[in-house]
Amino acid sequence: MALVDTKKMFEMAYKGGYAVGAFNVNNMEITQGIIEAVAEEKAPLILQISKGARDYAKNSYLKGIINVCVEENPDIPIAIHLDHGDDFETCKQFVDDGFTSVMIDASKLPFKENIKLTKEVVEYAHKHNVVVEAELGQLGGIEEHVVGVEDVMKHLTDPDQVVEFVGKTGVDSLAVAVGTSHGAYKFKTAPKLAMDVIQAIQDKLPGFPLVMHGSSSVLKEFKDLINKYGGKMPDAMGVPEDAISEAVKMAICKVNIDTDLRMALTAKIRQVFAEKPAEFDPRKYLGPGREAIKQMVKHKLHVLGCAGKAAECS
Ligand code: G3H
Ligand code: 13P
Ligand code: ZN
Repeated sequence: MALVDTKKMFEMAYKGGYAVGAFNVNNMEITQGIIEAVAEEKAPLILQISKGARDYAKNSYLKGIINVCVEENPDIPIAIHLDHGDDFETCKQFVDDGFTSVMIDASKLPFKENIKLTKEVVEYAHKHNVVVEAELGQLGGIEEHVVGVEDVMKHLTDPDQVVEFVGKTGVDSLAVAVGTSHGAYKFKTAPKLAMDVIQAIQDKLPGFPLVMHGSSSVLKEFKDLINKYGGKMPDAMGVPEDAISEAVKMAICKVNIDTDLRMALTAKIRQVFAEKPAEFDPRKYLGPGREAIKQMVKHKLHVLGCAGKAAECS
């Protein structure tokens, strides 16, 4: 099967009360770990590439790796998505490069300017049969190219704006701010998501797919390994998995995960370095990292409820 867009995936996910995992890829081992997991679990897949990933690995290398995933897994519907495109030119370039989905993240702009820029991207992308995700409200946290707000609860998506936003832009899915943040430090005290905001948006836009960014859980297993083997992430805290399972039963159809991949890889590399200080063959530490990613992603596919759903999304 050639690369697909996310339309069918989201239609089935909405109806079925599950979400498709959107995993950030930066190199071969991360991508292989993810694809091996979805192949075994027979799940639909969104592979996403950020500006930072493209700068690091070069788009052509990442696209090459993803093309192999597609060729070798004809039964798995795979979409390739630009994560957090922040201007028209970037989105245009990814559309022209054959991506099947792009995100225009104009969430920092005032409402009317967000609409204007998003609409421009939608018009271009739709002409090329590419779907568009946009964002309303703002997330917290800091990644390389994505800097969030400090108090996420003050920047949640306003349910009263969503109908106008979707109507005027023609966007295909909407990333909503419901209390999550990017990165490994999402909450200072007890984790809390604004489930009532998801419900209110869903009530205003019945049938419309929503996206949840910043959805890593900061798994205890990897946090403990990192801290045990010389790392320093004592206060890392993610979104509890039961909250994610609850959100996907609502209108959340795409769940973005990057930090959990980074932590799985880092934890295993640290462990090998600490336990075998004489090791200098990259395959001996990247290999365990790739395997940890695979097992973690397999687990996530069950949390999201999309394991076994590849066929119905094809
Ligand atoms: O949402 C942001 C993603 O985790 C990508 O982060 O810009 O560091 O690649 P990055
Ligand atoms: P995490 O940092 O929680 O993995 O979120 C990733 C993300 O939202 C990518 O767009
Ligand atoms: Zn994001």
